[in-house]
Amino acid sequence: MTLAYASGKAILFGEHAVVYGRPAIAVPITEVQAQAIVEDAPSGQGIRIIAQDLHRDYLLRDAPPDDPLRVTVTNTLQHLHRALEQDITLTISSTIPVACGLGSGAAVATAVVRALARHFGHPLEADEVSDIVFETEKLHHGTPSGIDNTVIAFEKPVYFVRDQTLEVFKVSYPFLLAIADTGIASPTKIAVGDVRRAWQADPVKYEEIFDEIGTLTTMARQAIESGATEALGQLMDANQRLLRLLKVSSPELESLIAAAKQGGALGAKLSGGGRGGNMIALVTPQTKDRVSMMLRLAGAKSVITTEVH
Ligand code: MEV
Repeated sequence: MTLAYASGKAILFGEHAVVYGRPAIAVPITEVQAQAIVEDAPSGQGIRIIAQDLHRDYLLRDAPPDDPLRVTVTNTLQHLHRALEQDITLTISSTIPVACGLGSGAAVATAVVRALARHFGHPLEADEVSDIVFETEKLHHGTPSGIDNTVIAFEKPVYFVRDQTLEVFKVSYPFLLAIADTGIASPTKIAVGDVRRAWQADPVKYEEIFDEIGTLTTMARQAIESGATEALGQLMDANQRLLRLLKVSSPELESLIAAAKQGGALGAKLSGGGRGGNMIALVTPQTKDRVSMMLRLAGAKSVITTEVH
């Protein structure tokens, strides 16, 4: 039996604009994880997939060709130079809520790739895992930037520009985030598709917004590297104003953001595709409990506090 995990992720700055070549910053969130187990099975079984949270139990050969787990397993076995005719059972579970901006799809795929690679005695480098998972990400939404698979496969804070050499960076001055869930599932595909249509209708306006988000992201990296926490909070607020202009916020996200600010957060914004899913708030050891309480009172379905380091 072989077991592997993958963490969730949160985008701190630059979601959506990253699809259009601007930089974004993302960090792994180890408090939520996907898990994959590979076990040898009786001869002739084929590849059986048990997705516990989705209550699904099926054979790979019976799944539609665009089934994300089928695609992930097939691509991994090809990469490992293994035949598809394996007799294994793959059991998947995850504590990452689906369609909430925390990278559940990419984390499940990453755990599967890692577990298969280890099972067949051929552990892969992070960039190989990331490339395989990127192919699965394309099924979840057609035009992924690649940031989710990258931050999850490398398990380090990343400053990410698509199609450029990856920069992982060190957070010398750790800081605290409260991450709160609106409880509203919002597939990234829909938000990304809407932004694309709006950009096509008014490219000048949208390119300007993307540029401004890119500038904020670069400033945020400097703030993180120099421990300028107050400035970092203001940059989060500014990024949220631009996300509103992209129309990817929602009343539920806005009420959690307002609650976090009332509770004393230094900054707050949505994280990921938006419309629903999660928001993040920059807190301190002094404000974290009050902000978490305010978020719960405002209707958050869950609140995680995590240290980014
Ligand atoms: C999703 O986590 C982040 C988006 O920017 C989409 C992407 O980068 O592929 C909304």
